[in-house]
Amino acid sequence: MMIRAPWTCSSRWWRIATVRPKAAGTDESSRVNAEHEDESLRDIELVSASVDNWDDYDVVFIGYPIWWGIAAWPVNAFVTANDFTGKTVIPFCTSSSSSIGDSGALLADMAGTGDWLGEERFPSGADESAVGDWVAELGL
Ligand SMILES: Cc1cc2nc3c(=O)[nH]c(=O)nc-3n(C[C@H](O)[C@H](O)[C@H](O)COP(=O)(O)O)c2cc1C
Repeated sequence: MMIRAPWTCSSRWWRIATVRPKAAGTDESSRVNAEHEDESLRDIELVSASVDNWDDYDVVFIGYPIWWGIAAWPVNAFVTANDFTGKTVIPFCTSSSSSIGDSGALLADMAGTGDWLGEERFPSGADESAVGDWVAELGL
C-alpha cells in the first residue's frame, strides 16, 4: 500500500502483514484452498491495521495479488479497519492473467468510506518501480 501526504506530495510504502506467517509449499496451498472454499475462514488477523499519522494522507493506493479473481483476502481486514473518509483510494493488483475485475469495487463496498477511483493491473513480478511510474503518470 502507498500513501501520500498532501502538503509535501511525499509518499511512503506500508506493508499489510499477517500474524500467521506464510506456510511453505503444499501447506500454504492447502490453507489458502480451504479459505477459498469456506469464506468464513477468510478473516485473517493482521500484525497491525493502523498506519501512523493516517490522517495526514490524502491518497491511498492499495495493492494486492489477485486470488481466484478477487483481492487476496488479508486486505479485507485492512480496509474494514480503517476510515477512508476524505481520502482518494486507488486499488491496484498483480495477477498471472486475470483482470482486476470487481476486486476494487468489492473492497470499496467493504470499506464503506473513501472516494475510490480508477484501478490498475500489473503482471506477476511487477516491481516497485513499475508501480512508481504508474503513480507518477497519474499526476495526482
Ligand atoms: C491462492 C492464489 C490464487 C491465485 N489466483 C489467481 C487468479 O485467479 N488469477 C490470476 O491471474 N492469478 C492468480 N494467482 C496468481 C497471483 O495473482 C500472482 O502470483 C500474484 O499476483 C503475485 O505475483 P508475483 O508475486 O509473481 O509478482 C493466484 C495466486 C495464488 C497464490
